[in-house]
Amino acid sequence: MAHTDVRVSQKLSEAHTLPAWLYTNPEVLEIEKREIFCKTWQYAGHISQVQRPGDYVTIEVADRPIVITRANDGEVRAFYNVCTHRASKLVEGEGHKSLFTCPYHAWTFRLDGTLHKASNMKGVENFHEKDFCLKPVRLEIQESFIFVNLDPNARPMSEVFGGLFEGLKKFRFENFKKSRVVETICHSNWKIGIDNYLECDHCPIIHKAFVQKLEMEDYEISIFDRYCYQGAPLKNVAADNFDLGQGGRYYWLYPNMWMSSDPGPANLSIHQSIPIDHKTTKYVYTTFLLDEVGKEAEELFAYDDILRKEDRDICEVVQKGLETGAYTQGRFSLTENCVHHFHLLLQDDLQNVLPLPQKAASL
Ligand code: FES
Ligand SMILES: [Fe+2]
Repeated sequence: MAHTDVRVSQKLSEAHTLPAWLYTNPEVLEIEKREIFCKTWQYAGHISQVQRPGDYVTIEVADRPIVITRANDGEVRAFYNVCTHRASKLVEGEGHKSLFTCPYHAWTFRLDGTLHKASNMKGVENFHEKDFCLKPVRLEIQESFIFVNLDPNARPMSEVFGGLFEGLKKFRFENFKKSRVVETICHSNWKIGIDNYLECDHCPIIHKAFVQKLEMEDYEISIFDRYCYQGAPLKNVAADNFDLGQGGRYYWLYPNMWMSSDPGPANLSIHQSIPIDHKTTKYVYTTFLLDEVGKEAEELFAYDDILRKEDRDICEVVQKGLETGAYTQGRFSLTENCVHHFHLLLQDDLQNVLPLPQKAASL
């Protein structure tokens, strides 16, 4: 019998996974950028990168260039990194400036986004500098991490992520230093990487070093509105309230960001999955440490590198499988509940803009 795609049911034990075409159709990614990436909170940096007025960082969200900077009034703001004259990109990279000078025709902008000087505009009628400020972008700082959201009407992070950041307060991330950034490319759709991260059924099979360290009997999974937690303490460490470095703590924030801490010195890594095209994803891993990089940290980096490579390798295999046309939809185990949650959120966000299946499976 030919397979007809079915909706992802709310009930995990009855649910099918999202259809394969969502992972293999290039047009889907463009819609996801518009409907998901342009409307969700995206990690933009750490407060230490914009400590002094004039410090700035540039990033891209859904291919849109953004600049984050601290102005002379002490406020950290985000703007589209797009000149209001004829849309050139204003600044590159990261650094320190007292004014932003556009590389095209040299209009200058203050650190608070206001237009400072529009060169060559003498005699232009009805031109008011105040109408040509940089376009602002929503910004929030949570536990010293900077986030932006391109949707001016987005719900604040405290609403979207409930008590997540409240719970992270005790770790005092403001004292952490950015110690390492690793960028890798994975030849798979961005959602495959998220699916993979959201379950640990594969851990005993793929991640031997991981299950040797952690007490898998105590592996905990908690699902909240738009984030979830997975984690387990090191063997011989109490399961309740273990500290950073004394186990694995993995927080996923919808749609494409993880905050994780692995066994070793006190550490936190921010992982971003950034889609390049529908079957290529850039992973940016930024690791923050409380102390200077020493032997323990080097061991942590080596352990992380192995784990991430194991995950990337299997994601590339899955992409090929999805593209065969031999696979349409799968089913979830009961411990793949975070993946199920992710698929429901995607289904919700995409159902009005993509021809997703309307009918649930009749079991
Ligand atoms: S585009 Fe920036 S000054 Fe012309
Ligand atoms: Fe994994």
